[in-house]
Amino acid sequence: MSAARTKPHRRVRKLGPTQPYLTGGLRDAFDAWLAGAVDRHTAGLAFREVRKGAQALSWLYVERRGEVDLAAHTIDGRGKRAALCTYYAPLHFLTAHHALAAVDPARLGAARRLVDLGAGTGAAGAAAARAFGVADATAIDRSGFALAEARRTYAAFGLLARTVRGRLPAALPRAEAGDLWVLGWSANEMTARDRDELLERLVRAIGFGARVVLLEPLAGAAVPWWPAWRDVLTPLGVIEHECKVPVALPEWIARLDKASGLDHRVLGARLLAGPLGPAPDRSAPSAPRSPLASGSLRGKRRS
Ligand SMILES: C[S@@+](CC[C@H](N)C(=O)[O-])C[C@H]1O[C@@H](n2cnc3c(N)ncnc32)[C@H](O)[C@@H]1O
Repeated sequence: MSAARTKPHRRVRKLGPTQPYLTGGLRDAFDAWLAGAVDRHTAGLAFREVRKGAQALSWLYVERRGEVDLAAHTIDGRGKRAALCTYYAPLHFLTAHHALAAVDPARLGAARRLVDLGAGTGAAGAAAARAFGVADATAIDRSGFALAEARRTYAAFGLLARTVRGRLPAALPRAEAGDLWVLGWSANEMTARDRDELLERLVRAIGFGARVVLLEPLAGAAVPWWPAWRDVLTPLGVIEHECKVPVALPEWIARLDKASGLDHRVLGARLLAGPLGPAPDRSAPSAPRSPLASGSLRGKRRS
């Protein structure tokens, strides 16, 4: 999860024009999803309880990262659950959406199945599924509460999803060519040992023709392991990108930002995505097949 402190207006202006948070049908689906979450999670709660929940989650992720079981502490109380589902989850969706704009879908290649690893409420997975036109998803998380939310999130965006409760990396599926494995702000919640094994499994999955998308906070201190992952994955054709996009936030999120002293007017994330194939030659009569589609990056499955 990303947490942002109040920043001066000057920094926002330097990053270019402020963009709408979403447009068109995707915005309609997002607004309906957010309104539904606000209705369900804030009924009978005073606004200040949701605000306190947002502040408590920010504090947990900034000050207590690595010390406590974050997944358990983020849902112990209605205020925190409301903040998770009506503030951080929509922020993750929007951040993933804007960060993934850096990835050319034609170079990523068509994906048959999206696997949302550490799916949480399904925010990053649903954003990726919509960005890359994947209709089927499998959401894996160790939290039953999170998976119930993920089911609603996927449905809200018109996607078919099955959920699997399990602990990663043991619960990883068998990689298939055409898989898109998405890890949105989840690898940094794992133990170093689990993360090391996960990285090995991602490399193997890429060998079988899968592609991966990883999103994490920009703050380097939150992800000391990132440079090592980048050094392993970029030689395989995975690209690294840092996203900082000024966005006009939805009213509910702007209100919670203001009340809690947090600032998400610039959506930021670091991204690893790929492997990407070569840019299609748009001047040629027909585009060449990418090495992903032809399977030349595919490895042999271990028996
Ligand atoms: C910060 S949330 C991010 C959720 C979601 N991907 C998003 O974009 O909003 C991290 C999620 O990872 C899950 N998680 C952390 N470690 C896990 C593990 N070892 N196995 C399965 N899920 C895990 C937590 O339960 C939590 O739902």
